[in-house]
Amino acid sequence: MTLRIGFIGGGGIASRHAATLAQFDDVEMVAVADPDRTRAEAFAADRALVSYDDHEEMLARERPDAVYVCTPPFAHGAPELALAARGIPFFVEKPIATDPDTAEAIGAAVERQRLVTGVGYHWRYLDTTEEAARHLRSRPPRLVTGYWLDATPPPAWWISESRSGGQMVEQTTHIFDLARVLVGEVSEVYAIAGRTPRPDYPACDIAEASTAALRFAGGAVGTISSTCLLHWPHRIGLHLFADGLAIELSEFELMVDVGQGRPVRPATGDPFLREDRDFVDAVLGRPNRIRAPYAEALKTHRLTMAAARSAREGRPIRLDAEARHG
Ligand SMILES: NC(=O)c1ccc[n+]([C@@H]2O[C@H](COP(=O)([O-])OP(=O)(O)OC[C@H]3O[C@@H](n4cnc5c(N)ncnc54)[C@H](O)[C@@H]3O)[C@@H](O)[C@H]2O)c1
Repeated sequence: MTLRIGFIGGGGIASRHAATLAQFDDVEMVAVADPDRTRAEAFAADRALVSYDDHEEMLARERPDAVYVCTPPFAHGAPELALAARGIPFFVEKPIATDPDTAEAIGAAVERQRLVTGVGYHWRYLDTTEEAARHLRSRPPRLVTGYWLDATPPPAWWISESRSGGQMVEQTTHIFDLARVLVGEVSEVYAIAGRTPRPDYPACDIAEASTAALRFAGGAVGTISSTCLLHWPHRIGLHLFADGLAIELSEFELMVDVGQGRPVRPATGDPFLREDRDFVDAVLGRPNRIRAPYAEALKTHRLTMAAARSAREGRPIRLDAEARHG
C-alpha cells in the first residue's frame, strides 16, 4: 500500500520531512498548499508535486491519505480542523498553536474522530533520551535544569509574540516536553521574562530572556531558561540530577556522571526519520508507536501556555487548576 501525503506549509521544516519521506517506498508525496505562491511552487517543483495556495482546495482535489502541517505557529487551527472534519490523519509541527483555545479545539476534534496524529517533538526519538530514561528509572530525578540559549532564528514571524508565541512557547517547548517525558507532569510553574529594545531587531516584541521555575507532581523541582541573544547555539538541553547521578542531555550527545569522570557519547540515528516512520506506519494500520500524538503535545502546550501566562501576570500558575484557561 502507498500512502499519498500532502503538505500544508512548504517552508524549512516541510523540506526536512519531505527529504525523509522521499526515502520511504510506501509513501508518495502528492501536493503542497502554501499561501506564499513562490514558496508553494518552489517546494512543488523540487518534488514534482501539485501546488495550491489554499489548503481547502488541495484537500478537495487531491484527497490525500495523510497531511503534514508545517505552518508557522500563528497559522494553526483552520488546517487541522479541516483535516479532522475530513477524517484525514495528520502530522503537525510544534508548537501546536500560540494560544490555549486553538489547541484545545483541535485536540477535541482529534479525539472525536479518533484520528491518528503525530507532533514534531523529535527529541523523544533520540536514542540518548531513551538511555537517559533507563538511568532515571532506578534513580528518579529530583532537580532539573533546562536550557535553550541560542541565536534568534531567521523566520520573520519568530520575533513576533502574536505570531510565534515567544521563545518558551515556540522553541524551548522541546525542553519542556522532554522534562515531561523524563521527569513527569508539572504541577506548578512560575516564570519571569525580560525584554529590552534590540536595535538589530526593531520589530521584535518577544522576551529575549526568560526563566521558568517548575514544581513536578512527583516532587522534583527545576528551572528552564531561554535566551535568543546569542549568535550561535551555546547550550540547548536538559540536565537531570538524582541520588548519585547527573545527566546532561542535548540534541547531539549524552553525558552520564556517576562520579567516575564525565563520559560523553554522541546520539546515533536520525530522530526525524524515526518519527516520520512511526507516523506513516500508524496511518497504514501497522502498530501505532507514535511517541507524541496530539493529546500528548497538548499537555506540553498547556505547560508552555501556563509559563507564558505566569510571566505575563507575574504570579505562579497551578497547572491542573488553571492551565486550561490560559
Ligand atoms: N521539530 C523541529 O525541530 C522544528 C525545526 C524547525 C521548525 N519547526 C517548526 O515548524 C514550523 C514551521 O517552521 P519553518 O522553519 O518551516 O517556517 P518557514 O517560515 O520556513 O515555513 C512556514 C511556511 O508556512 C507557510 N504558511 C504560512 N501560513 C500558512 C497557512 N495558513 N497555510 C499554509 N502554509 C502557510 C509560509 O508561507 C511558509 O512557507 C514552526 O512551528 C517551527 O517551530 C520545528
